[in-house]
Amino acid sequence: MVVLRPARESDAAAISQLIAQLGYSADSTATQQRLGRLLPREDHLVLVAVTKGETVCGWLHAHAADALESGFRVEIVGLVVGREMKRKGVGKALVEQAERWAKALGAEAIVVRSNIKRTESHAFYPALGYTESKTQKVYRKQLSATGLKASKQASPPLGGSA
Ligand SMILES: CC(C)(COP(=O)(O)OP(=O)(O)OC[C@H]1O[C@@H](n2cnc3c(N)ncnc32)[C@H](O)[C@@H]1OP(=O)(O)O)[C@@H](O)C(=O)NCCC(=O)NCCS
Repeated sequence: MVVLRPARESDAAAISQLIAQLGYSADSTATQQRLGRLLPREDHLVLVAVTKGETVCGWLHAHAADALESGFRVEIVGLVVGREMKRKGVGKALVEQAERWAKALGAEAIVVRSNIKRTESHAFYPALGYTESKTQKVYRKQLSATGLKASKQASPPLGGSA
């Protein structure tokens, strides 16, 4: 049996191993630091799926954000199910939990961008009722900062009284 629970910093190594299955380099220390920043935040949801033996077999990260052009929505920014546990309903359970969270927050929609090469996901999301809305190119420019400063500044509201 698989159960879902909020991720903990101690899940970093297991989450990194699943990230590595996608072909990305996955530094467990960096994952732990990111979890440390994300877990206290109410606009982020990080879930893990664990087997009876407490092995992490899947994870999902979702982010709620307000956008001027598209309104308040939740985006699934990461989802991986371990290769031994695929096609057992784990991915579906993680996404359905993210949908409940999104509804509870009052999000207008839940969206996900998935690389064209992730063939499994292009069967998975339509099976869960998601429809393809557009095709994009993603542009990237490497900056020298680590990102730590930016994410610390994002928490207090801009122009707030604090
Ligand atoms: C996509 C992914 C998360 C699916 O997880 P999963 O736990 O295997 O999916 P589920 O068992 O919940 O599948 C639910 C339904 O989706 C569809 N589906 C899932 N994987 C599929 C596949 N490889 N081929 C065809 N249909 C598939 C099926 O309809 C399935 O129901 P069924 O098994 O009763 O037929 C998993 O394959 C994965 O981690 N892939 C690599 C990473 C990735 O692509 N992540 C998403 C990018 S955001």
